[in-house]
Amino acid sequence: MAIRIDGKKISQELKDELKETVAKLKEEGKNGCLAVIQVGDDPASSVYVGNKKKACAYIGIDSRSYELPEETTEAELLELIESLNQDPAVNGILCQLPLPAHISEKKVIQSISPQKDVDGFHPQNVGALVIGQEGFVSCTPAGIIELLHRSGVSIEGKHCVVVGRSNIVGKPMALLMLRENATVTVCHSKTRNLKEICKEADILIVAIGKPQYITADYIKEGAVVIDVGVHRNENNKLCGDVKYDEAEPLASAITPVPGGVGPMTIAMLMKNCVEAMKRYA
Ligand code: GUN
Repeated sequence: MAIRIDGKKISQELKDELKETVAKLKEEGKNGCLAVIQVGDDPASSVYVGNKKKACAYIGIDSRSYELPEETTEAELLELIESLNQDPAVNGILCQLPLPAHISEKKVIQSISPQKDVDGFHPQNVGALVIGQEGFVSCTPAGIIELLHRSGVSIEGKHCVVVGRSNIVGKPMALLMLRENATVTVCHSKTRNLKEICKEADILIVAIGKPQYITADYIKEGAVVIDVGVHRNENNKLCGDVKYDEAEPLASAITPVPGGVGPMTIAMLMKNCVEAMKRYA
């Protein structure tokens, strides 16, 4: 029987700690404000953005909402971001992805001041992570490190297999595990022998984007299994990239979907906002 890694509980603990830190920073005259930009009205994005604003209110920082129509031009969006970069009252800026096809995500990400880039997507912050310098780290992989630490999983010297190589999850995840002194293998859609490689993992982190793809044959007995996927199955129930019922009896610890990695992403965004507040308020 695996330990169920409770992301809901751990993210709540983290938010409660941040709430205390924010109260102390406010006594020092430092205030936090996150600007959240959404272009268009993608329903999933609206839910994420709403949850991010709620989390700000919970820990005691302000949030400003910019809900822009789908037809917003790239130039208009870049102009808004530049004004937020210049605004001393704003210490975090987040532009919800995906953006409409006529707007370059690359340009938008690069236009956010690295000092206010609480998503950790700016090339300067990604570069800082690569060479071990201080910067903002992408929230989902940072949240996984926090989950592992707070669940007492030791990382040093372990073989960690990351399945997925996206800029937001897979690549920063591999770098963070390397920083924790794991031996890291990164797999992706072109990997041969995926099953065999996964089966060698002490810590298996799956961000493959395919519902319930990882079955019992991919998991070594006693492995720690972290599932980043979020999908709806045929019964409209949430599920991950891992077949939980098959993985759970083999694993020593496992994250459920929902209630595993998901809640940590927003908690880590709040942690980055508090960091921005400390550094730049
Ligand atoms: N879309 C999906 N995940 C994220 C995220 O972490 N940050 C932003 N800005 N957009 C997203």
